[in-house]
Amino acid sequence: MKRFLSPADIGDLHQALQEALAIKADRYANVELGRNKTLLMIFFNNSLRTRLSTQKAAMNLGMNVIVLDVNQGAWKLETERGVIMDGDKSEHLLEAIPVMGCYCDIIGVRSFAKFENKEDDYSEKILQQFIDYSGRPVFSMESATRHPLQAFADFITIEEHKRTERPKVVLTWAPHPKALPQAVPNSFAEWMIAAGYDLTIAQPEGYELDEKFTQGATITHNQDEALAGADFVYAKNWAAYSDPNYGKVLSKDMSWTVSKEKMALTNNAFFMHCLPVRRNMIVTDDVIEAPTSLVIPEAANREISATAVLKRMLESL
Ligand code: CP
Repeated sequence: MKRFLSPADIGDLHQALQEALAIKADRYANVELGRNKTLLMIFFNNSLRTRLSTQKAAMNLGMNVIVLDVNQGAWKLETERGVIMDGDKSEHLLEAIPVMGCYCDIIGVRSFAKFENKEDDYSEKILQQFIDYSGRPVFSMESATRHPLQAFADFITIEEHKRTERPKVVLTWAPHPKALPQAVPNSFAEWMIAAGYDLTIAQPEGYELDEKFTQGATITHNQDEALAGADFVYAKNWAAYSDPNYGKVLSKDMSWTVSKEKMALTNNAFFMHCLPVRRNMIVTDDVIEAPTSLVIPEAANREISATAVLKRMLESL
């Protein structure tokens, strides 16, 4: 596997699931695979789970790990061609990327949507340059439009907890004070559809996601109707995708917060969120603390999804 951005890159999801479960049963079984191989993790944005779980995954496979926080200690990077570099940016990404590629075998990149230019975000301008110019296999640690390691971990978590073969999974928008990218809901929708689940997406008007990620899902503006009979409720905020409101916060409607009353509409559903989460904006304290909350198992499975992906990449070096 030379890149990991979407479920298409990993192939048969149930095969990938079996590999992930085998890793979970014995996460050090492949510790020789990564001997003298180096993972470079590049962060343009903050992280807790992705940073720790991916580093742990690399250690499970015996790899060496280098972590670069681009905004802390590295030269400030220019990303545009044709710019006269007489400002505060000392280095161009087009030199920095191949240089980084010299020091490692596999590269993970975190680079969020900036909401300055929709085309730049949705063409994955930064991540694509790593794919094109690093000379190394590249995986997303959350890019402008996708968060595949999270969605893979969510898929594993649902498979571990589902009570019916084809569960009803509801992805619901919930309020948040700031504009957040669509990467998590895009990937979650894409993976749930690829897994063959019954997916419903509930959001206020104006929050429709790119249809590329949601084809096959039931889409509604009525959260209560969506939650009826749900087996899993995945809450997430995202900013508007559709023009002319790309990247804007259109609503902070607290009636969309996932509460005990909302969960009572479901089929005793499990609650899910990728974290970090704003309590009592996205979800109430009692729901996230309930025994049906899967937020910690999801985070734990990030180590497993990352180990499975790195294992595939090491095998194809
Ligand atoms: N869910 C997730 O990716 O968490 P971090 O942003 O902390 O890495």
